[in-house]
Amino acid sequence: MRFMPPSFPVSFPVSPPGTIPILIAPNPILKAKAKPVAKADDGAVRELAAKMLASMYLAPGIGLAAPQVGQSLRLIVIDLMPDNKPAPITLINPEILSLAEELATREEGCLSLPGQYAEVTRPARCKVRYLDLTGARHEIEADGLLNACLQHEIDHLDGVLFVDRLSALKRNIIMRRLAKEQRQKREDDRRR
Ligand code: NI
Repeated sequence: MRFMPPSFPVSFPVSPPGTIPILIAPNPILKAKAKPVAKADDGAVRELAAKMLASMYLAPGIGLAAPQVGQSLRLIVIDLMPDNKPAPITLINPEILSLAEELATREEGCLSLPGQYAEVTRPARCKVRYLDLTGARHEIEADGLLNACLQHEIDHLDGVLFVDRLSALKRNIIMRRLAKEQRQKREDDRRR
């Protein structure tokens, strides 16, 4: 998830070491329902989470789900950088236990829809259960930015993008604009 436009355009011809390229919509992996992680306390899972965090910080973004880096697994990383200091959370097999009836609207963006932003309305609070990288179980209750971020990222695990929460009209406008901008970017990259 991304909330603020980056202050300068960053374009890497290849991914820097330790990062994974982020898939851009439309892509069938982004629309698929991801599979549960079989074992949370596992070297490969730790390695993937570390690469996802590095890719997210580079982007830059505040949340990233494994399907966005081509891994159809129920794993997300989030860092809201409170006080501008890193505070990463890795959530394995997150499950929404409850959602508030009250709604809240916030501007959202997504690293898989670069440059696109829209106001999204979601339940104002959520309670989520997940496993950490040691396999320990946690529960968190969130409102505000963390709430929106958790719901946005867990949506990714079910093949749902923030534009799927908008009207068909708004979604089509954004998807057409994204396709046009990506086409333009590819042409610019070729000329460089
Ligand atoms: Ni996203």
